[in-house]
Amino acid sequence: NCPGYYDYVELSDGVNRCVLTDKYVDHFAEEIKNFEVFEDDIWVITFPKCGTTWTQEIVWLLNNNLDYEGAMNTYIDMRFPFIEVGAITKEPRDSLNLCKQLQRPRHIKTHLPKFLLPDQIWTVKPKIIYVTRNPKDAAVSYFHHYRHIIGYTGTKDEFFDAYLAGKLLHSPINENVLEFWKIRHEPNILFLYFEDMKRNLKEEILKMMNFLGKSYSEEQIDKLCEHSSFESMKKNPSCNREQRIKTVKASKNYVSKNEEFTFMREGKIGSHHKEMTEDQKAKFDSYMNYSEFESVGFSYKMN
Ligand code: A3P
Repeated sequence: NCPGYYDYVELSDGVNRCVLTDKYVDHFAEEIKNFEVFEDDIWVITFPKCGTTWTQEIVWLLNNNLDYEGAMNTYIDMRFPFIEVGAITKEPRDSLNLCKQLQRPRHIKTHLPKFLLPDQIWTVKPKIIYVTRNPKDAAVSYFHHYRHIIGYTGTKDEFFDAYLAGKLLHSPINENVLEFWKIRHEPNILFLYFEDMKRNLKEEILKMMNFLGKSYSEEQIDKLCEHSSFESMKKNPSCNREQRIKTVKASKNYVSKNEEFTFMREGKIGSHHKEMTEDQKAKFDSYMNYSEFESVGFSYKMN
């Protein structure tokens, strides 16, 4: 049920949680640990499907003088690379080299948990924007992503169980979010929620603008809100992964030929309501009620 290059990966401590010790990518985790970090880097860090691409597009534009033409003409993975994706595509050096070759200030995306990030992140302290989302919606979104982009052929039930058991790529979400929540007050960290972006995009964009030390007029911010609205992002070829989806669709093992899929799929709060059974919701509720959260005052935005 987890075909192709996306293997479940078990770390030496017995927990399935990260791709980087994959047999295809010996030493890659170490290379990422030793990756040189610069103070003017901007890192967008998320668990998958929590609004990564949306945040990347906004952050890149805020930090590049609202250069819409540049954004449109350059695929987001080229201007804002996904540092560990090479581990997934079995071309480990590619994404790392892309990051190394970027002009400063560099923009880097990752889904890695805190303990796998470059050591220098904690001494050089580049700006980090962390975004989280309600795991029920994120899991539904990840299910569609796995089906249409990775080629997952199993059932939804199995998928959700794997999500909750921390068996999917980059899992588990609870530990990932907890580590960044604990350091959210550090001056180089901005902690955001997908749900807040959805409810009041302008306010969240202003938070990002201030965090990045930029200043734009009301009119410019309104235009950025429009550019980063769900409908615009859905049509934006530099962000919507049209090509990748077409390639997967054309592959002979693809199972969902008659289904429509767009990367900007629904973009809603609460899309799990129609996609999860009561039993599945209950399992997620109990997972989200993670014992470590209470003492640090974290909870997901419930919906
Ligand atoms: P859905 O699958 O629920 O629609 P990521 O970039 O981390 O993979 O996240 C993808 C999710 O973010 C998708 O969720 C996608 O639709 C949503 N998204 C992307 N841009 C958005 C926008 N402008 N407004 C709302 N949701 C957006």
